[in-house]
Amino acid sequence: MEDPAPAEILLVDRDPQLGRDIVAFLEARGHQVEWVDDGEKAYNRLDSRPFDAVITELSAPRIDGMRLMAVARDRNPEICVILLTEQPDIERATEAMRRGAWDFQLKPPNLEKMEAVIQRGVGRQRLVFEQVELKRRLDEQYGLGRLVGKSRQMIKVYNAVRQIAPTRATVLIQGDTGTGKDLIAQAIHNSSPRRDAAFVKLNCASIPEALVESELFGHVAGAFTGAVRARMGRFELADGGTLFLDEVGELTPALQAKLLRVLEHQQFERLGDSRTMSVDVRLIAATNRPLEQMVGDGLFRDDLYYRLRVVTVDVPALRHRREDIPLLVDQFIADACRNNGKQVEGITRNAVNVLMRYDWPGNVRELKNIIEGMVVMARGGGLLDVHDVPDHLRRSVQPDVGEIRIPSGVSMAEVERIVIEETMKTCGFNKEQCARTLGIGLRTLYRKIKEYDIR
Ligand SMILES: Nc1ncnc2c1ncn2[C@@H]1O[C@H](COP(=O)(O)OP(=O)(O)OP(=O)(O)O)[C@@H](O)[C@H]1O
Ligand SMILES: [Mg+2]
Repeated sequence: MEDPAPAEILLVDRDPQLGRDIVAFLEARGHQVEWVDDGEKAYNRLDSRPFDAVITELSAPRIDGMRLMAVARDRNPEICVILLTEQPDIERATEAMRRGAWDFQLKPPNLEKMEAVIQRGVGRQRLVFEQVELKRRLDEQYGLGRLVGKSRQMIKVYNAVRQIAPTRATVLIQGDTGTGKDLIAQAIHNSSPRRDAAFVKLNCASIPEALVESELFGHVAGAFTGAVRARMGRFELADGGTLFLDEVGELTPALQAKLLRVLEHQQFERLGDSRTMSVDVRLIAATNRPLEQMVGDGLFRDDLYYRLRVVTVDVPALRHRREDIPLLVDQFIADACRNNGKQVEGITRNAVNVLMRYDWPGNVRELKNIIEGMVVMARGGGLLDVHDVPDHLRRSVQPDVGEIRIPSGVSMAEVERIVIEETMKTCGFNKEQCARTLGIGLRTLYRKIKEYDIR
C-alpha cells in the first residue's frame, strides 16, 4: 500500500478550543492545516492557493458553509468538504450531501472519522488527477500535447478543443496577447480529421492592407502592378485543411465582405480572374481585440462576426489561472535548457512564488521569455532562485503574507534574522518593500542585513 497522502486543509471555525484540537490532530497525522475564523477569510484563502479539503462550520460568519462549499467546489471540483454543525439537522445534512459534501458531523466531531474521510477524498482526487494526466498523454498523440496547464480554465479549453475538432464549424479564439491562441488553433487542426492536410496561417495584421486580399485569394498574372506571375492564395493552399486567420479584427470592411462570402459559399475568385473557385476549408479565426465591441462601434461587420463565432474559445489571461504557472515554468526550463545547451536542475519554491505573484501582462509568452532569459543567464547547474528573477519583475510583485517557521530554542537575534530573511524573500529582495512590510526604517533594514549577513 502507498503511504497515506498528506492533505492541504482549510479549516473554518470560530471556536478556539475546537480549532486547536482539530489542527493538532490533523497535523499530527502529517496534514497541513490553515485555520481561519470566518467564511470571508476562507473565501480569500481559496482564491489564493489550492486546497485538498475544507472543514467548515455550517453557520460560519459572513459566508456560510454551504456557500463556501460551492466556492470551494468551483475552484476544485473534487475537493473534500466536511461540514460541522451545532444542531442535528437531517434536512440540511441531506441537502449538503446532495450538493457534494463528503461528510456532515455534529460538534464535537469525531476526529478519527474526519481524518478517514479526508484520506478517502484525497485518494479520489489523486485518481481523478491521474485520469486527467492519462488523457493528456493520449492527447499528446493527437496534438493537444504542447498545451501545458491543468487549471480548471485550461481543462475547459481542452474539452472545447476536443469537442470542436471533429466538426467543420468555424471557430473564433479570443484572448489577450500571448495566451496561446496560435497553439490552440494548431491543436484544433491536429486533433481534427483534417490533420493530414495543410494548416495554413495568415496574420492579417502583419502584412500591408493592400496585399491581404491577394494573400487570401491569390491573383492572376498582371492583376495589379507587380503581379508578374499568377499566385495561389491561402484559401487554395488550405483546400481540404484548415485556414487560420490571426488578428481577424484587422480586416478592412471590403475584405470582411469577401470573407463572409467565402464562408457562406466556399467560393471565391482570384484577383483579376473571373473564374469562380470552390474550396473545402475550415476556418479558425483569432483576435486579441474585443470583436463584439468593434461590432458595436461599426468597425466590424455583425454578420461576419456571427458567422465566425459559431463556436468560440476564450483563452483566459495567465493571471487568472496562476496555478498553471509552476507547470509552465518546468516545461519552459526544460525547453530552454535543450535549446541553449544549458543544464539547470529546476527552480526553488521561493522563486516560483515570486513568479506566481506577478501579473504577466504578456501572458504565457512573457513567462516563456523570462524563463529562457533566466536559464541563459544562470551560472550553470543548480536551481534557479529568487535572485535569478529579473529585477523589474521582482519589484512589481505584491508581497505575500505567508507564514514563517521559527524553530524553538533560538535567540532573539536569530528570530530577527529569520524574519528579515524570509520577508526579503517574499518581497522579491526589494528592500523598500521589505522595510515597509516590517514597519522599520530603510536604514535600519540595511544595517541589519549587513549585521546578519543576509544576501
Ligand atoms: N498553455 C501553453 N502551454 C505551453 N506553451 C504555451 C501555452 N500557451 C502559450 N504557450 C507558448 O507561449 C507563446 C505564445 O503563445 P501564442 O503564440 O499561441 O499566443 P497568442 O495568443 O497567439 O499571442 P498573440 O495574440 O500575441 O498572437 C508560444 O511560444 C507558445 O508556445
Ligand atoms: Mg498569435
